[in-house]
Order: sequence, then C-alpha cells, then structure tokens
Amino acid sequence: MKFFIDTANLDEIREAYDLGVLDGVTTNPSLMAKEGITGDEKVRAHYKAICDIVDDKVSAEVIATDYAGMIREGKELAKIDDKIVVKIPMIKDGIKAIKYFHGEGIRTNCTLVFSAGQAILAAKAGATYLSPFIGRLDDISFDGLELIGQIVHIYQNYGYETEILAASVRHTMHLIKCAELGADVVTCPLKVITGLLKHPLTDSGLAQFLADHAKAAGK
Ligand code: E4P
Repeated sequence: MKFFIDTANLDEIREAYDLGVLDGVTTNPSLMAKEGITGDEKVRAHYKAICDIVDDKVSAEVIATDYAGMIREGKELAKIDDKIVVKIPMIKDGIKAIKYFHGEGIRTNCTLVFSAGQAILAAKAGATYLSPFIGRLDDISFDGLELIGQIVHIYQNYGYETEILAASVRHTMHLIKCAELGADVVTCPLKVITGLLKHPLTDSGLAQFLADHAKAAGK
C-alpha cells in the first residue's frame, strides 16, 4: 500500500518524507488556500517546491470545470515537473479530460468520487488514480469504507488498472481498514501516518528495557 500525504504544507511533506515511507503528495484548492498560495506563478512555484522534496506523484488540481480549460490547465501543470499527476474532478468534462490525458501519457487523479458508478466511469476513461472521499461520506452517514470495498471488488472483476487512492482519510483506523480492503493508496494528514507509531505497550516496554539496562550497568 502506498502512502501519500494530503497537504500543501512543505514542513509536513518534508517530515513525512524524512520518515522514509512517503510515496507521494495530494493537494487540492482548499489545501493550497490554507497555505496562502494564490496566483498562477505562486501556485506553480509551490508545486515545484513540493516536487523537489518527494520522489514522485504530486497531485495538482485543475480549477477549470470545462473541457478546454481542464486540458489547458492540466498541460500547464504537467509541464512543471514529471512528478505531477493532474487532478481532475468527477464531472462530465472531467471524464473527457481524463480520457484525453490518458492518450497523451499524462497521469491523472480523478477526485471527488462518492459512488461505485463514478469509479467505473473513471476507470473506463483511463484515470491513473481514483480518489473516493471516505471521511466526507462518513460525515453524511454513508459508510465510506464500504465504498472502498465495493470499488476494490469491481476493479478486480474487470482487471481495471486505475489505482484506488482512498482520500478524505481522517484517522488511523480508516487507513488500516483501507489496507485490509485492498486500497492501493491512502492519502492522509501527517498525524494519521505518525499515529500508526503509537502503542502504550511499546512506550512502557521501551521504558522498562532502558530501566533494566541502566540498573544492570549500575547507573
Ligand atoms: C485528497 O485528494 C482530497 O482532496 C482530500 O483527501 C479531501 O480531504 P477532506 O475531506 O479531509 O477535505
């Protein structure tokens, strides 16, 4: 399972990368706005700065919602760095744009996915990644994890190559359940990745080992 970090914050991206387990980054317009990144030049420079930290797979989202605009923006984004994956919303023109970029050999991440039907469309169009938003489904009393299981099943039935990138991951159990279900990738905040480290028996066990060592050494 690949780990992507879901942020546009450079310090958090560096911290996750330094841990040695990071496979990529996802951003969205809200995450870019949170970092105060606005204007074409600043946005491009920020994506480049992210690409310079990580090895590959930096999702950069188009703002346009019409086919021509998405193609134009997606091409500009893809020019920033070979590591860029163009993120396209799950709308009619988005499906057409995904199909176009597939033909051009430009990787895409189909975002804002909330149903199995949408997942089938994106796979047929040739999306590289599919982002079902599990936390946002949970927020409205639908089971986000159930959707992940459903899409894994469907994609296995037909051998679709699109990778399932579980997004809107809010906590460690989301991540672990996605791993059980067979999601290819999870994207999550840094705290979810570091949260995997935590276990009270690890902490107390280590404290005991160090205390025993010190005692035996007469310290
Ligand atoms: C990532 O690709 C998505 O944009 C992100 O995971 C959405 O997360 P949120 O629902 O916590 O905003």
